[in-house]
Amino acid sequence: MSAHSKAMGAPAVLDHCPLMPTYGAPAIQLVRGEGSWLWDRDDRRYLDLISGLAVTSLGHAHPEVADAIAAQARRLLHVSNLFGTEHNGPVAVTIDRLLGGGGQVFFANSGAEANECALKLARKFGGHGRHVVVSAYGSFHGRTLATLHATGQPAKHEAFQPLPEGFHHVAWQDTDALASAIGPSTAAVLLEVVQGEGGVQPATTEYLQFARQLCTERNVLLMIDEVQTGLGRCGAWFAHQLHDIRPDVVTLAKALGNGMPIGACWARREVAAAFEPGDHATTFGGQPLATAVAAAVLAIMEREDVPARAQRAGRRFSDALLELDGVSTVRGHGLLLAAELDGYDAKAVAAALLDAGVLVNAVTPTALRFAPSLLITDDELDLAVVAVRDAIALTPNVEVAS
Ligand SMILES: Cc1ncc(COP(=O)(O)O)c(C=O)c1O
Repeated sequence: MSAHSKAMGAPAVLDHCPLMPTYGAPAIQLVRGEGSWLWDRDDRRYLDLISGLAVTSLGHAHPEVADAIAAQARRLLHVSNLFGTEHNGPVAVTIDRLLGGGGQVFFANSGAEANECALKLARKFGGHGRHVVVSAYGSFHGRTLATLHATGQPAKHEAFQPLPEGFHHVAWQDTDALASAIGPSTAAVLLEVVQGEGGVQPATTEYLQFARQLCTERNVLLMIDEVQTGLGRCGAWFAHQLHDIRPDVVTLAKALGNGMPIGACWARREVAAAFEPGDHATTFGGQPLATAVAAAVLAIMEREDVPARAQRAGRRFSDALLELDGVSTVRGHGLLLAAELDGYDAKAVAAALLDAGVLVNAVTPTALRFAPSLLITDDELDLAVVAVRDAIALTPNVEVAS
């Protein structure tokens, strides 16, 4: 706990916490936001460089998003998918257009649920006997039992065994391992373009194009998890577009509602056709409030050309970070970046940044993750660079195992 958060008395509100202990004790309590800035309950201001883990891509309290929420809340919140509603069709059309067309969308409420839909679709499309999904070590696909098993992080599996059958993991970016993992029971390969939770580890174009070709040759689906990377964050509408591949299935969530919970699973129409009425459902998925907000979010994103903004700002930010003493490399695309620190404990640097009023995430023991608003200004990014420089200078240089 930082000195600053102790001074704020944050633990007092957390004594006798009514919440299950699945998260560590938070250092600060945030109550208000505007653009790239957040305020805590003592009215202290923070520059937000993590956006609720790549969610608030348009910043906090965007007035048009707030208006869309208020207007829809006064009009119609929910009726269930037994009935047609206004916004789910148009939002699906926009998602399909941004993905190049030819597909259909299922709406869910989170990234894990978008992936759960993809996993069920792969099984239905594959048919009996073809149900295995191959994913990569280091990946993250969610916390439901199935998406947890798709997640290539065995340490996270241990306490929850036995997990649902039908998942196989291969070394990340190893083309031979991927080729030998695909067998007669394989239904799909599920990959991220940048392993976000896995440390902001981008795949190479060669690897992704190899995976595309392999999946086509072996007649298995290529499913790309764009829950973190989608909707402009990486400098293209979808990060796989940076690598000139066309997946069969794409999942997205985080940025789609700018904080309103919504996820989506897109699939090529021939693949989506494997689902029949009754095969998959969710009470809230695609409901009027969430899709009205997604419609507003997508309209703002298109008007602001957020992929171009992410690309330009990302390049500028990454160049400036690379100049800093103590930063050895910067990886990622657009405004999903990680700065690898040269002998500094990333948690200690993140804590120093928090004390200085800047929010980042220590994504590995030696790397800081940045995922600011795609509307962040150059001045705000310049402040961020100075803050990172000062935080590194305040942190002792030690040997840290990566
Ligand atoms: C790539 C990826 N997939 C899936 C998920 C799970 O999304 P959610 O937490 O909304 O269930 C995440 C969350 O961080 C993610 O980064």
